[in-house]
Amino acid sequence: MKFFADTAEVKDIQELNDLGLLDGVTTNPSLIAKSGRKFKDVIAEICAIVEGPVSAEVVSLDYEGMMREAADLRKIARNVTIKVPLTLDGLKACKSLTSDGCMVNVTLCFSAIQALLAAKAGATFISPFIGRLDDIHVDGTELIAEIRQIYDNYAYDTEILAASVRTALHVKQVALIGADVATCPPAVIKGLVRHPLTDKGIEQFLADWKKTGQTL
Ligand code: G3P
Repeated sequence: MKFFADTAEVKDIQELNDLGLLDGVTTNPSLIAKSGRKFKDVIAEICAIVEGPVSAEVVSLDYEGMMREAADLRKIARNVTIKVPLTLDGLKACKSLTSDGCMVNVTLCFSAIQALLAAKAGATFISPFIGRLDDIHVDGTELIAEIRQIYDNYAYDTEILAASVRTALHVKQVALIGADVATCPPAVIKGLVRHPLTDKGIEQFLADWKKTGQTL
């Protein structure tokens, strides 16, 4: 499973990339606002660090506006992936952009049937938001399982990009189901390594090593 960082913080992206853990990045207007930086500058910097897909979201709601913004964003780098909302205009833009060789991430997916539409529109990625479903007491991971089944039934090659992933448990659950990608805040990705028995084991080994009186 691929890991994408869900952030617009360049420093965090550089750190994860240096660790060899990063396959791509997703941003959205809220993350750009949080960074306090200019959208296109941030996307250009991220694309210079990360080889994989970097999602940059359009903000127009109409097809023409989305296509105009996408044309502008695509000029930034070859790995820019245009993120469009799951609306009729978004799906139309998705079809046009993917037909033109551009990667597209269809975002704000909350139902399996929406995901089917995105696959029919040729989406490169579908982004079901599992954490936001959990927020309203709906099991977001069930949505991932439904989409996996539908995509497998019809051999769609749209990748399932589990979004709004907030915990290590989410990551495990979507990996077990077979999501292609999980996009997570950097802290969640770094936290995946932690286990109390690993820490305890290191402590024990170091204490025993000390007893040997040897050095390396
Ligand atoms: O990038 C979209 C998604 O991952 C947002 O997550 O935590 O704001 O629901 P969250």
